[in-house]
Amino acid sequence: MAAVLKLDEFNLLDDGECDARIVAARKVLGDRLCILGHHYQRNEVFKHADFTGDSLKLSQLAANSDAEFIVFCGVHFMAEVADILTFGKRTVILPDLAAGCSMADMANLVKVRRCWAEISEVLDPDQHVTPVTYINSAADLKAFCGSHGGIVCTSSNARAVLEWSFARREKVLFFPDQHLGRNTAKNMGISLDEMIVWDFTKPLGGNTPEQIKAAKMILWRGFCSVHQMFQPSHIENFRKRVPNGKVISHPENALAVCEASDYVGSTEYILRTVRASQPGDHWLIGTELNLVNRVADEMKEKGVTVEFMSPTVCMCSTMFRTDPQHLAWTLDNIVAGQPVNRIRVPEEIAEPARAALNLMLEVVD
Ligand code: 13P
Ligand code: SF4
Repeated sequence: MAAVLKLDEFNLLDDGECDARIVAARKVLGDRLCILGHHYQRNEVFKHADFTGDSLKLSQLAANSDAEFIVFCGVHFMAEVADILTFGKRTVILPDLAAGCSMADMANLVKVRRCWAEISEVLDPDQHVTPVTYINSAADLKAFCGSHGGIVCTSSNARAVLEWSFARREKVLFFPDQHLGRNTAKNMGISLDEMIVWDFTKPLGGNTPEQIKAAKMILWRGFCSVHQMFQPSHIENFRKRVPNGKVISHPENALAVCEASDYVGSTEYILRTVRASQPGDHWLIGTELNLVNRVADEMKEKGVTVEFMSPTVCMCSTMFRTDPQHLAWTLDNIVAGQPVNRIRVPEEIAEPARAALNLMLEVVD
């Protein structure tokens, strides 16, 4: 058996040399390979993807893929979802294993179990609380939801998932992103008075038993470090400068940013909406920089102006980890018959996680 090719050697190659290797490997592997690319990927990687999308679209594409190898240019939880939904029958590869999601890391199984146990001092959570995890979370948290009558959501189906949840139990524990939970619940007519934040560093999440009993939404105190950079003042300044401009934001933004925006939705929704605009339109977008720069270039040709919401450069540093060097390295190792960086979720976790993911996919249908 050939030896595994070393990443160090690929790190010495320039992007052009990596491009040539990626193109050659894709030719050799043909239909055996499917490269999925999230919208936040940098151009040098994004251009090699067979399919691109938001988390929901990419999980559906992965679930329906016949390819033997799925190379996921995204972050760790996305590759886990691909492995879970393909029952471990495909080889799912994450080009850089350090490509995680800092928001996903803000909740873990120990903390969520402790939260569940503390809630049970006040009421029976398995009777009264649906646990809902954002897809940006580790597989064992999806499994936790699957084992407790709960479900997964993405940024594009959070409302449908919350409606499903409230039809079953009167409360929701939403983790890890407080903002997606708050924005979605507020849109559904749930008032801020009916929401509490669960601060996992404090007993009872920093709440009294009465507050827990009265709450409809229990929001985990997690957030996205990229989206927290966007502020309502950025929108106010834009509106002064461009009175006819339109503002579109991702629901991981704080409530004040979403409420000051004209449109709010997933990365796929943002792209669809901006692409449908007319010459002369002017947009301010509150989501990750690589997506915004790409759509700004694309729309320039159509006479549409696109601006990034923050004056400072903020991109998702973990999405950025996947570079042409890692992609070329993983593809050449597949060609050599030595796949590296396989993401494999143990079946005892995958099975309940799959149940929660499948519920989400049914709710979307
Ligand atoms: P989307 O599902 O909207 O692409 O969002 C994923 C994500 O991580 C946003 O920060
Ligand atoms: Fe995670 Fe935020 Fe990066 Fe999305 S943008 S992958 S939520 S850290």
